Amino acid sequence: MAYPYQVTSLDQYNTAYKKSVDDPEAFWGDVASNFLWRKRWDKVLDWNFTEPNIKWFLNGKLNITENCLDRHLGSLGNKPAIIWEPNDPEEHHRVLTYRELHNKVLQFGNVLKNNGVKKGDRVCIYMGMVPELAVAVLACARIGAIHSVVFGGFSAQSIADRLQDAQAEFVITCDGAYRGNKEIALKSVIDDALIQCKFVKRVIVLTRTRTPVSMIKGRDVWWEDEIKKVETQGNPYCEAEEMDAEDPLFILYTSGSTGKPKGVVHSTAGYMVYTAYSFVNVFQYQPGDIHFCTADIGWITGHSYIVYGPLAAGATTLIYEGIPTFPDAGRFWSIVDKYKVNVLYTAPTAIRSLMGFGLGPVQNHDLSSLKVLGTVGEPINEEAWHWYDEHIGKKKCPIVDTWWQTETGGVLISNLAGVTPSKPSFATLPLPGVQPILVDERGEEVKGNGVSGNLCIKFPWPSILRTTYGDHERCRQNYFATYNNLYFTGDGCLRDENGNYRITGRVDDVLNVSGHRIGTAEVENAINMHAGVVESAIVGYPHDIKGQGIYAYVIYQGTHGDEELARKDITQTVSRIIGPIAKPDKIQFVSGLPKTRSGKIMRRILRKIAEGEMENLGDTSTLLDPGVVNEIKAGKI
Ligand code: WT7
Repeated sequence: MAYPYQVTSLDQYNTAYKKSVDDPEAFWGDVASNFLWRKRWDKVLDWNFTEPNIKWFLNGKLNITENCLDRHLGSLGNKPAIIWEPNDPEEHHRVLTYRELHNKVLQFGNVLKNNGVKKGDRVCIYMGMVPELAVAVLACARIGAIHSVVFGGFSAQSIADRLQDAQAEFVITCDGAYRGNKEIALKSVIDDALIQCKFVKRVIVLTRTRTPVSMIKGRDVWWEDEIKKVETQGNPYCEAEEMDAEDPLFILYTSGSTGKPKGVVHSTAGYMVYTAYSFVNVFQYQPGDIHFCTADIGWITGHSYIVYGPLAAGATTLIYEGIPTFPDAGRFWSIVDKYKVNVLYTAPTAIRSLMGFGLGPVQNHDLSSLKVLGTVGEPINEEAWHWYDEHIGKKKCPIVDTWWQTETGGVLISNLAGVTPSKPSFATLPLPGVQPILVDERGEEVKGNGVSGNLCIKFPWPSILRTTYGDHERCRQNYFATYNNLYFTGDGCLRDENGNYRITGRVDDVLNVSGHRIGTAEVENAINMHAGVVESAIVGYPHDIKGQGIYAYVIYQGTHGDEELARKDITQTVSRIIGPIAKPDKIQFVSGLPKTRSGKIMRRILRKIAEGEMENLGDTSTLLDPGVVNEIKAGKI
């Protein structure tokens, strides 16, 4: 069998789950034995959730790229590691075999070294979805540098914040990126960000779009020129840096309920073991299968299930540069057909948006290669689930509804394709090694079935976050302080009569817009930057395609005559400060916000109004000025 740690029957799942709870160290030690270690660990696990301090595979030494690349060269050297489909279907696609990818990673590892990057240095990667993005990520891991990938849709200000927080002295970017019929000038965004970040020593720029760029002497170099230098230096080998199991592998920024995004830190060995384990089990990957995850590598889904999980398992991973609706709404299906994709992993928001185009775009493509479908990022509504099942999977492909988070590194709750049963709109059961628990507001465990509560996890799994970069206390506060000795997910959840879990959405002030996490405080701060804005409050509301839309209540005193113009200015401000993904869908101008006597905004009321539930606003007796509620109700958009 290709993967000794793949469970392939319900019985095996039950046995594995039981073992993982009874003896977690033996369980994960067995799984980890299937990987390549420079030195084996002394102890599997050491942990407490109070500091928190979590260590897996203590004193083990390894390099994740030796596991993702070198290890496979003998058996898979000539097999495709990456298939790349460009934005424009007329442009030639690319295939990188394991050997070719290995060569490129080693070459670029040497480029990084030549440019002064050392073990432990932070490298910010801001690129479109080209194979070189995966090469850049892996080259960092090769030499022990910590990558921090920033999604190409974030603004210069967001990049600057992240560069500063991580004190990253190196940036890898592209001249531009293609997304549908748009060309995004990535390098120019980086230039804007770097005005505030003088500590950045080097920017390496890959040519993709030939968008004009300004290359700053002494700071900016071309990827292609640097590769040529390495080639003429003669020795292309780039020794893999020996890393400790707990050395940080990457930082990935994500939004929380307060303040600026936090840098979630994942470490090397636990992350590797868990992404590979979850990849082969959730999707039931078989050697030779083509795995197509439609996420961007700028999000955790791309890190874990485009790059690391699949490559650690020796899989073929498909990277698609563009968007689902370009040149038409049949693009995903045409890609499935063209490469005979076996596993398709996408987001409910994409499914809902494609449903809107009807069956026309689906019908002229052969989807018979598909074996497994997956969804991630937000709760999937039953209508979308059934459409996916009927029209894409033709009722023959199990759908895995995978619940997880940036902080969890890999899928924690999901059915295993064809192995454990699915249930529409339920993530169903925890993976082996994962111990969920529901708690009430007071932190008391909610026992039994047919109950709901806040979702926590009571035991560590190998890819749990280790800290938030530069601020361990924030990590403790955010995830480990709400409930004693539990990791708190921020999600509400119900457990049905059979013990299946259904995630009902965030219980904190975090929105989920098209599967992207957006902090309400962050958007409010951005809106408040606009000169005419006095104060604002953001809530989510149900949105047919995005899942949640962003509803902004704004007290505005600008010297405008035109509300529409003011709305555009505010939207533009958010785009500048955070990025287009955080733009409000609706802006309502109000003269006041409902506040308690202590000055706290009562979001519950604002949420109800935005949802259109005007009647049942609950207790408003603690409001400072109840009159404002009627005004807001009357002005609802
Ligand atoms: C939040 C994490 C890691 C995947 C990409 C999003 C929501 C994620 C599901 C699902 C219901 C889901 C949760 C979670 N979420 N997957 N299958 N069903 N909700 O990662 O940006 O860190 O967001 O996404 O609310 O807390 P993220």
